Amino acid sequence: MIAQNVGSSTLRVSRIALGCMQMSGTWNPQEVGLENVKKAIAAFESALQSGITLFDHADFYGATTCESIFKDCLKAVPGAREQIVIATKCGVRSGFYDLSQKHIEYSIYKSLDRLGIQYVDLYQMHRPDPLTHPEETAAALKKLVADGVVRHVGVSNYCPEQFRALQAYMGDIPLVSNQISISLMRLAPIYESWEGGDGILDQCMAQNVTPLAYSALAKNLLTSTDGVSGDGSKEKILQAVRTELKVQSIKYGATPGQIALAWLLAHPAGIVPVVGSNNPQHISEASQAVDISLEREDWYKLWTAAWGRGVP
Ligand SMILES: NC(=O)c1ccc[n+]([C@@H]2O[C@H](COP(=O)([O-])OP(=O)(O)OC[C@H]3O[C@@H](n4cnc5c(N)ncnc54)[C@H](OP(=O)(O)O)[C@@H]3O)[C@@H](O)[C@H]2O)c1
Repeated sequence: MIAQNVGSSTLRVSRIALGCMQMSGTWNPQEVGLENVKKAIAAFESALQSGITLFDHADFYGATTCESIFKDCLKAVPGAREQIVIATKCGVRSGFYDLSQKHIEYSIYKSLDRLGIQYVDLYQMHRPDPLTHPEETAAALKKLVADGVVRHVGVSNYCPEQFRALQAYMGDIPLVSNQISISLMRLAPIYESWEGGDGILDQCMAQNVTPLAYSALAKNLLTSTDGVSGDGSKEKILQAVRTELKVQSIKYGATPGQIALAWLLAHPAGIVPVVGSNNPQHISEASQAVDISLEREDWYKLWTAAWGRGVP
């Protein structure tokens, strides 16, 4: 699969990433058994065979079981660790956020231990914490980079102002990525500010930051074959988007999910969709979206279907 750099760093990643939030198949550590491990390894192997090199974790996914099961995946494929980029996150705790120096320094060593690795390639601050001054968060991150346990630093769910505030205290260490929710069902990062957009993609392009897109398939809404129930404005938009995805899937000889990913991949900000699946076939299918080049007119047809109106 084609690769790209993450922001201004030398880190090279596949254009589709695997989201590992479902990797253990449970949020109850007591339920993790041999079957869960087998399924996780099958998903991991499918991702590797499909050319996926970026794997996205967070400390609390599966109540920590997703990072732990990834250790089994790495053991099952000797040499894999050196071939891939491991991203994880910290800062979300039970009912609150915590990006204090103490918590970050605690979290990274727990993650390294669970994952069974010596360093994390990309350490992401999961959500902004209004109760920690960015100077303190930056101090913790700079130390982790200096200690060699973190290679590169990114953020998640940061608006442009929060991003700039943290970057201001990072010295010469760039924040290289911002993981945000973007899809045909969530356009805010793409809209102009006067249309209620948040300007994140423009900021990413201006500052050479890679946007990682979570819920890129709108959590299954764009791939599901179940009918759309309800007749509110959101349901009408979903129906219109699905209809256009279907039309284009026939034109491009692809699945609707692949078209939805190709739509994100076409944006010049270099969006990397983080696809959440533990199904080897779905992972392989998602990876093939990189081969689809949507025509400009088709990209706009999807955008206007998602917007609910034509371009002015
Ligand atoms: N930073 C954050 O705050 C944040 C928040 C949420 C998620 N994330 C990250 O983003 C990743 C993905 O997020 P998500 O799970 O919310 O969203 P998603 O990727 O939009 O949706 C996942 C759903 O799509 C289905 N799917 C995936 N590929 C498919 C395919 N090729 N065909 C049909 N269905 C397919 C999956 O079903 P199957 O399991 O059946 O394949 C699953 O139900 C997570 O794993 C995590 O790494 C980050």
